[in-house]
Order: sequence, then structure tokens, then C-alpha cells
Amino acid sequence: MGGKASLKIVSLVTIAICTITIIADFISMLHRPKSLNGATGSVTTKVPRSSIAKLSMLYGEPNPLYERALAAHLPHNKNFGYNMYVLREKTLPGYWSKPAFILDQLLAELALPAEERLKWLVWFDGDTVLMNPKIPLEIFLPPEDKWGHIHALVTNDHRGLNNGVFFLRVHEWSVWLMTATLGLEIYEPGIELEFGDQSAMGIWVLDERFRPNITHVPQRWFNAYAGNRGETNGLFADPFAPQSKFHANSIKEGDLLVHHAGHKSLRAQRMAPWMDVAEMHLPQWELELEETTYQQEITEFWQTEAPEERKRVDKMIAQEEKKKAAKERAAKEKEEQKKGAAEGK
Ligand SMILES: *[C@@H]1O[C@H](CO)[C@@H](O)[C@H](O)[C@H]1NC(C)=O
Repeated sequence: MGGKASLKIVSLVTIAICTITIIADFISMLHRPKSLNGATGSVTTKVPRSSIAKLSMLYGEPNPLYERALAAHLPHNKNFGYNMYVLREKTLPGYWSKPAFILDQLLAELALPAEERLKWLVWFDGDTVLMNPKIPLEIFLPPEDKWGHIHALVTNDHRGLNNGVFFLRVHEWSVWLMTATLGLEIYEPGIELEFGDQSAMGIWVLDERFRPNITHVPQRWFNAYAGNRGETNGLFADPFAPQSKFHANSIKEGDLLVHHAGHKSLRAQRMAPWMDVAEMHLPQWELELEETTYQQEITEFWQTEAPEERKRVDKMIAQEEKKKAAKERAAKEKEEQKKGAAEGK
């Protein structure tokens, strides 16, 4: 997105405002009551309501495993006063319901008087399993003194942005990010979005319009993968076995959650043993916050790594450009081969 970017943004935004307002009003009209009292219910006990709320979605054919994954949030919500809103009907094709639902919730919060608003929303994909309900989400928030302009916390895996779990501040800025994400496909139909909303958001996260207000944090913090545990040939990880190979993004004991991204056909099989363990509430997984390395890691991160965000994102952009160039080269070669074959006839 080079020189024409600002013009494009202006027109995108204009189209988007109209579309989104209509869509959001419509969705909230249909779903507000249900999502407010979603499957995981609301918080009632002594713990005061947190200024962070959780969002997720689960719709379609009943899926007991995913219902269990949602239910695993309950003790966490109760411990820290999180409300959780769950979208129960598909509103848009593919997974576009996700940014639309987030947008809907953002606008609903912004429509409240400032003092009544939530401060942050945290998205959880349905294939994440909450492993430690003793870890408050608040620890991950950017320290306000120096990082008050950071409105999104995201994580990357080896392929780029993974938006299975991410933090968004309740702020106008977030409305534009979700609007741009949702609008990209209709605005630039030629653009290839391999992973739908995730790819669209991945493009904007690296764009100058949004990148100054985003921090990429270590994936393991709240979007960890299962990694390698036990003799399980890399496709399955046994939560009872110790790590057999180190990856920085693999869940370790005491971490918040594990995300079973990718391998769609094997997902349920890979996820089930982790779901079992989560429900057992084992002390080796449910460490107290003080027993984990979180607080030290997080403090260090904001001191030493966060200031390097610009450099890190420059590298990500260079990588993306390299990938794109390789793809274009491959497509061109294929084209030439085809032409050659046609001329040879
Ligand atoms: C985004 O970050 C930049 C750079 O720190 C800041 O100048 C700007 O005000 C921020 N934008 C918003 C909407 O907070």
C-alpha cells in the first residue's frame, strides 16, 4: 500500500462507514440480547466487573468439544469478573462474522457514556483451550504511562499474524481497524486473502495507518501452540508429557491457553486431550501467577522489546514483500510455460 494509500483509505472508510453502520445496527438488533447472555453467562459474585470483556463465536452444528472449550472460560471469568459475549449465529460468509461481531461490540461500548465503557476487548477463537484460569488478562495490557497509544496487542506465528487471540482497546481507532479489515475484500477484490479476515487484518496491521498503535507481543503469552510433547511425531502433543522440542511459541505449564490452529481435519483429535486436562484442573497446569515467569517476562518485554517494534515490523514487511515477489515470479514462470506449450503445438 504505497502512495495511493491515503486516498484509498478515505474512500474505503466512506464506503465502510455506511455499510458498517447498517450492518452493525442490524446485527446488534438481532443478537444483542443473546450475545449479552451468551453461553458462558454473566458474572454475579463478589468480584467486581473487569474493564476487560471477552468475545468469541460458536455457531452451526452443535459441537460438544467447542462447547467444553467455551465452558472452560467460566472459572476464569468468575475469578476476575470478565463478561463474555459469544456470537451464536453466523452473520457473514466465511469467518467474516468475527470482525463484524467485534465491530458491533466496539460500537455498542462507544455508544455508552465514557465512564460506563469497557476498556479492552479480547477475542478468543473457538479452537483455543483455556489452561490456567488463575492468570488475569490485565497483566498483558500495555503500561499506560508510556504505551497509552497502543490500542491492539497481536501475535505472529511462523506465517505472520495469527488473530486467534488478540487484544483491542475500546477506542475509535479499533473501529477503523475492524472496518478496514471487513472492507478490504470488497474494496480490493483482486487481493488474495488466503486466510480471510486474518489475512485482511494482517495486511492492515503492517500498514502505516495502523502500525504505530499496535504491539506484537510474544505469541506464547496468550496464543500459544501445543508444540512437541511426548512421542507424538509433531502432529499431536501430549499434555501429560514434557516438551520434547523447544519452540518459543509452545505452551508451557502455567500458561493461559493453547491454540489448536491449522490441521483442520486433525483439530478435534489434537484438541481433546488438552480439553480433558483443562477440566481436571491439575496443579501442574494451573500455577499461581507468582509461580509463572509471566510478570518478569512482561516487564522485560515492555522495557526492552516494545521500543524495537518499528524495527521488528519493518522486518515483517520486508519478509511479506519477499514472499509476494516469489509468488509473482512463480506465477509468471507458469504463465510462460503455458505460453511455450501453446506455441509448441
Ligand atoms: C497512534 O500512535 C501515534 C504514535 O505514537 C500517535 O501519535 C497517535 O496519536 C496514535 N493514534 C491514536 C488514535 O491514538
